[in-house]
Amino acid sequence: MSMDFTDQRLSYEKGQLDQQSVPVSPFELLNAWMHEAIEAQVQEPYAMSLATCGADSKPSVRIVLLREITGKGIVFYTNYESAKGQDIAENPNAEALFFWHKLERQIRISGSIAKIDADKSVAYFQKRPHDSQVGAWVSQPQSGEVASRDLMEQTFEQLQADYPEGAAVPTPEFWGGYEIRIEKIEFWQGRANRMHDRIVYHKEADGSFVTKRLLP
Ligand SMILES: Cc1cc2nc3c(=O)[nH]c(=O)nc-3n(C[C@H](O)[C@H](O)[C@H](O)COP(=O)(O)O)c2cc1C
Repeated sequence: MSMDFTDQRLSYEKGQLDQQSVPVSPFELLNAWMHEAIEAQVQEPYAMSLATCGADSKPSVRIVLLREITGKGIVFYTNYESAKGQDIAENPNAEALFFWHKLERQIRISGSIAKIDADKSVAYFQKRPHDSQVGAWVSQPQSGEVASRDLMEQTFEQLQADYPEGAAVPTPEFWGGYEIRIEKIEFWQGRANRMHDRIVYHKEADGSFVTKRLLP
């Protein structure tokens, strides 16, 4: 069954972006936009699409949750043995994307990915709710096939019995954070008549960033 969306269009008129007045540091703008999204009550503004591409050259995209903006990049947590983990082991280049319809904004981040320090992953894992910790052990290897939901639930219950509420759940070695070190970041603000504002920051060899305006 086909569907036709060719008559569907919105005019974007909620903001604008001026190359002369954007901050020198893209991190400042990223933080400011994130604060504005939180204030505007965008639901889960820290949910981002993450695109990776392994040795087979076939891109994969999925949502992960941004957990930290550092001075160099952005951090998310996952299973290192998942499909995305395999992709990243084969090719460390990745792109992340946020789209906040409520603000008519898109942010595109690209760079290379590296695992964060194991100590930091352990600290974050130990902060997570008990049942999420158990869930991480159930989902191993994440993206592997499982015969049934029942089997998943049996494993979950077994692990809950092994690690009752209050008992420390060990941090799996196969689980932890990745940081995308920002090499390029584009801020997109929707405008009327498809005349959108696109300001991209490129990282230079000395670590500073230069901006360019892109055609929409
Ligand atoms: C809102 C939302 C948040 C998610 N957050 C994460 C996350 O932080 N880490 C993660 O590994 N998967 C997360 N997932 C699940 C992933 O989208 C994906 O299904 C899973 O990581 C397996 O991806 P892969 O097979 O490409 O490795 C989230 C999914 C949704 C819809």
